[in-house]
Amino acid sequence: MSSAKKQYKRITTKTLVEMKKKGEKIAMLTAYDYTMAKIIDHAGIDIILVGDSASNVMAGHETTLPITLDQMIYHASSVIRAIERCLVVVDLPFGTYQGNSRQALDSAIRIMKESGGHSVKLEGGEEIAESVTRILSAGIPVMGHLGLTPQSIYKFGTYTVRAKEEEEALKLKSDAKLLEELGCFAVVLEKVPSKLAREVAESVSIPVIGIGAGDGVDGQVLVTHDMLGMTHEFSPRFLRRYLDLYMEMGDAFRRYISDVKSRDFPNEEEQY
Ligand code: KIV
Repeated sequence: MSSAKKQYKRITTKTLVEMKKKGEKIAMLTAYDYTMAKIIDHAGIDIILVGDSASNVMAGHETTLPITLDQMIYHASSVIRAIERCLVVVDLPFGTYQGNSRQALDSAIRIMKESGGHSVKLEGGEEIAESVTRILSAGIPVMGHLGLTPQSIYKFGTYTVRAKEEEEALKLKSDAKLLEELGCFAVVLEKVPSKLAREVAESVSIPVIGIGAGDGVDGQVLVTHDMLGMTHEFSPRFLRRYLDLYMEMGDAFRRYISDVKSRDFPNEEEQY
């Protein structure tokens, strides 16, 4: 029996640790739907993150806080149907794991059972250690997320660079160590000074994936809609735009509207 899926060597959490050992950088992007996930997976990405940034990008919320577990499961299952090769990480949304490890385990189990995702990501360090341990004990791989953790935006007050001061930098380093010791397979570091991010990456054996964390880490992640230039309002220094799809898609939509209005579309060949 042959199937297209068998042509690919799947990326696992073990592959990622091996990549770090070999010094091979890890590429990660977000996806929330089938079509985008298929394109990204076929392009050869290592990890797709079904991020709770879906709350901003797909639903238009100001923060990541409103998205629900059911909505994350919907997005993740659409992504899972598309992929053949990469590892899929699914964010546990705000309010589904903080402060109650039993609830954290139930949430992670729902993600794995109902979406088919391969792993979950949680924001925070010491304060969520019990939840991380309990999820890991059920055999569910966990990715950590430190630095700027958008689910805590109302505590931080702004989206500026984190851990510039020594106290916060020390906590971040010890949180990264703790996540490694607990058994997380990787950790995302968001918007922290590159020197600190490099130190963290050098101090742990698990891959550190950066977003706005410089070039000393083991891999990079971007929000796909941002790197494609579909979003315009968000322009942080760390963001490299590979396309200006806001303009290009706008042009295509304007041409279509004009063709319909002018009766150019559909032409003879475009009808039955
Ligand atoms: O939700 C998300 O897209 C993320 C990335 C910014 C790392 O957590």
